[in-house]
Amino acid sequence: MKRTLTTLLAAAACAAVFAQQPAPAADAAAPNPTTPAMQIDALLSGAGAFFLATADGDQPKLRPLGAHHVVDGTVWLGVGEFKNVYRQLVANPKCEVVALQKDGAHWLRWTGRAAFAEGAERERLEEVFLEAMPGLRKIYDKSPGKRMMCFTLADARAELIPLMPPGEVLLDETAPAAPAPRKALVACFSATGTTKGVAERLAAAIGADFFEIVPEKTYTAADLDWRDKKSRSSVEMADRASRPAIAGATPDLAGYSTVYVGFPIWWYREPSIVDTFVESNAAALAGKTVVPFATSGSSGMGDSAKNLQALAPEAKVADGRRFRADVSAEDLKAWAAGF
Ligand SMILES: Cc1cc2nc3c(=O)[nH]c(=O)nc-3n(C[C@H](O)[C@H](O)[C@H](O)COP(=O)(O)O)c2cc1C
Repeated sequence: MKRTLTTLLAAAACAAVFAQQPAPAADAAAPNPTTPAMQIDALLSGAGAFFLATADGDQPKLRPLGAHHVVDGTVWLGVGEFKNVYRQLVANPKCEVVALQKDGAHWLRWTGRAAFAEGAERERLEEVFLEAMPGLRKIYDKSPGKRMMCFTLADARAELIPLMPPGEVLLDETAPAAPAPRKALVACFSATGTTKGVAERLAAAIGADFFEIVPEKTYTAADLDWRDKKSRSSVEMADRASRPAIAGATPDLAGYSTVYVGFPIWWYREPSIVDTFVESNAAALAGKTVVPFATSGSSGMGDSAKNLQALAPEAKVADGRRFRADVSAEDLKAWAAGF
């Protein structure tokens, strides 16, 4: 049967009464610990002394601590600036606090990264600690090197663990973050602007980012003369290994789940510069959906999708579609909803 924190705290309180021990100050806070910070604070109080583990290089170090305060909803601990524990936490903030409850039946494990207060907050917290223990003012006289350094545990996980399982998780900031929302990029090459118009409409319709694949060397009208076997486009398209250079850098594709790739159909397939784009980004496209689309005089997509799939084998390349230059934003949006 799962024991709730309230049950466990009640048990701790009862144990203290049976043992006829004076109730520790924070036991008063125990019946109503409504936040993880208050729960942790109550459990630190419920232990009397608790232990802080740090790493000194490859050597674990453990020491008892007693002071802890909740300020602005955060549990703070304090260590001397001149102590090894402070040096260790600065070198490697990973640390762990363990607090065995006085009833001996369960214990708190609080793990995280020491995050030290800075500036005015540091001053304020130091005062909180010293006011609670005025005797320490002689040691922590605030001169350089003799400050009380206050820290909390960030990216933390706190667990209340009974000596017999199961335990109870009080806080878990270490859980993996929710998956990033799906994001799309519309990339396009367009020699004479037709495909670019469609690509921009698509990006606006689906709220995607837009990137134009710009050739390092612009295609002139002569370059695009498909009737001339010696024109640049004819030469490039006749050579399957041709990879015309792209100007500038490609955006980081890591943040996108879907990459639409638009182009004009040249010789019944994707232009060679689109091969450059897909092949040079093959690693970044791994696991992503790549959706080709095109404009043309009249031809369909031909083998474009198959060709691109071969260049980025770990991407999922969709069949894609050829559009008329005047395709509407609504039609593009409806089509894109399928990916
Ligand atoms: C070198 C070259 C080859 C072409 N090959 C074809 C083709 O095989 N089939 C077709 O229908 N249109 C072909 N076209 C026409 C283009 O696909 C069409 O004009 C396209 O919409 C141009 O897009 P853009 O303005 O984005 O460059 C070709 C155009 C050029 C310049």
